[in-house]
Amino acid sequence: MNKRKTIHDIISLKSAGKPVVCLTAYTFPIARMLDEQVDLLLVGDSLGMVLYGYDSTLTVSVELMIQHGKAVVKGSGNALVVVDMPFGSYQKSKEQAFENCGRVLAETGAQAVKLEGGVEIADTIKHIVDLGIPVMGHVGMKPQHHNIYGGFAVQGKTEESRDKIMDDAFAVQKAGAFSFVLEHVTNEVAAEVCAAVKIPVIGIGAGNQCDGQVLVVDDMIGMFEKTPKFVKRYADVKTEIENAVKTYAGEVRSRKFPR
Ligand code: KIV
Repeated sequence: MNKRKTIHDIISLKSAGKPVVCLTAYTFPIARMLDEQVDLLLVGDSLGMVLYGYDSTLTVSVELMIQHGKAVVKGSGNALVVVDMPFGSYQKSKEQAFENCGRVLAETGAQAVKLEGGVEIADTIKHIVDLGIPVMGHVGMKPQHHNIYGGFAVQGKTEESRDKIMDDAFAVQKAGAFSFVLEHVTNEVAAEVCAAVKIPVIGIGAGNQCDGQVLVVDDMIGMFEKTPKFVKRYADVKTEIENAVKTYAGEVRSRKFPR
């Protein structure tokens, strides 16, 4: 039986010059399908938008993340599983963050949690890492902050924005995160960040110089008509499902199925 990857396996991929392969997973069957091919499965709070049709990730609860985290851990045995901490579950105090992150790890069996933010949550990251919880950071465009940005636009286009991303990256690394997601920033800034930090930087919409890549699995398998521009579609599962259902409906109506 395969031994599940650890945060140290992920960290050592950067020193070995090997890209870290990540995808989101929210359910047992998807986790089973992805597990052997990826290094890291992210139970992203994007599940609020992808699975439940919410307009943003802000309405996702700790309980919902725990349910999906459990399913993904159960469906995997190779990849490191990281569970996103939802908005409001770690910002109030370091103690609140430890309580919720600890609960997520204990109840799901996942190996790490992911927190969005840089300088402003560095003390919180340090606190929970010191108490034994592996943390992945998330800087650049932070979807939980979309009301502040006024959308989900690319970051790093101005000097001020570039400096903020660099400060956040260093703060998260210094706080003890084992890795961080760098979302939707210019390719130039992403390359600069990756060269400057020691921990693996997992890019999404951040060019090909990052230490690893992550995509929302539903986007890359073609479950939606509209996806962010940076997504590459590797399959057309939506059309496959629609065609299968159309054929089934036709066969039931014509009494061709069952035979
Ligand atoms: O919630 C999520 O799926 C994420 C990825 C987009 C990185 O944070």
